[in-house]
Amino acid sequence: MKIFLDTANIDQIKQGVEWGVIDGVTTNPTLVSKENRPFEETIKQICELVQGPVSAEVISLDWKGMVEEARKLSQIDEHVVVKIPMTPEGIKAVKILSSEGIKTNVTLVFSVNQALLAAKAGATYVSPFIGRIDDIGNDGLKMLEEIVVVYNNYAFETEIIAASIRHPMHVAEAAMIGVDVATVPFNVLEKLFKHPLTDIGIERFLKDWEKYRAGR
Ligand code: E4P
Repeated sequence: MKIFLDTANIDQIKQGVEWGVIDGVTTNPTLVSKENRPFEETIKQICELVQGPVSAEVISLDWKGMVEEARKLSQIDEHVVVKIPMTPEGIKAVKILSSEGIKTNVTLVFSVNQALLAAKAGATYVSPFIGRIDDIGNDGLKMLEEIVVVYNNYAFETEIIAASIRHPMHVAEAAMIGVDVATVPFNVLEKLFKHPLTDIGIERFLKDWEKYRAGR
């Protein structure tokens, strides 16, 4: 499973790249707004750091505006993937963009049917938001599982990005379900490394090693 970092924060991305576990980045207008930096400059810098797929989202809601924005965004860097919202206008734009060889990521997906339409339009990626489904008391992982079944049934090439990840269990469950990618916030990425028994084990090894060295 590939891991993307779900952030527009350069320091977090540098740290993820340094750890050697990041395969790409996803951003959205909210994440970009937190950084208070020029959008295109931020996306360019992220592409240079990651050298992998970097999602940048359009703002237009009409297909013509989306296509226009997407063409510009794709010029920033070869790694740019254009994020398009799951609407009829968005799906029309995805169809056009995929025919032009521009990579797309259909976002704000909350159902199997929406994921089905994204794949039929030729989306490169689809982003089901599991956390936001959990937030309203439904089962985000169940939807993810159903999307994987449907995509396998028809051998769709669209890659599934588990998005709106809230905690490490979402990552583990997404991997067990067999999605292509999980895009994780930095605070969740940090938690993936951690286990109290690892810390206890290291402490005990070091203590025993010190005793051994002192006794020689
Ligand atoms: C994917 O890139 C999504 O934009 C992101 O995961 C949404 O996460 P949120 O539901 O925590 O805003």
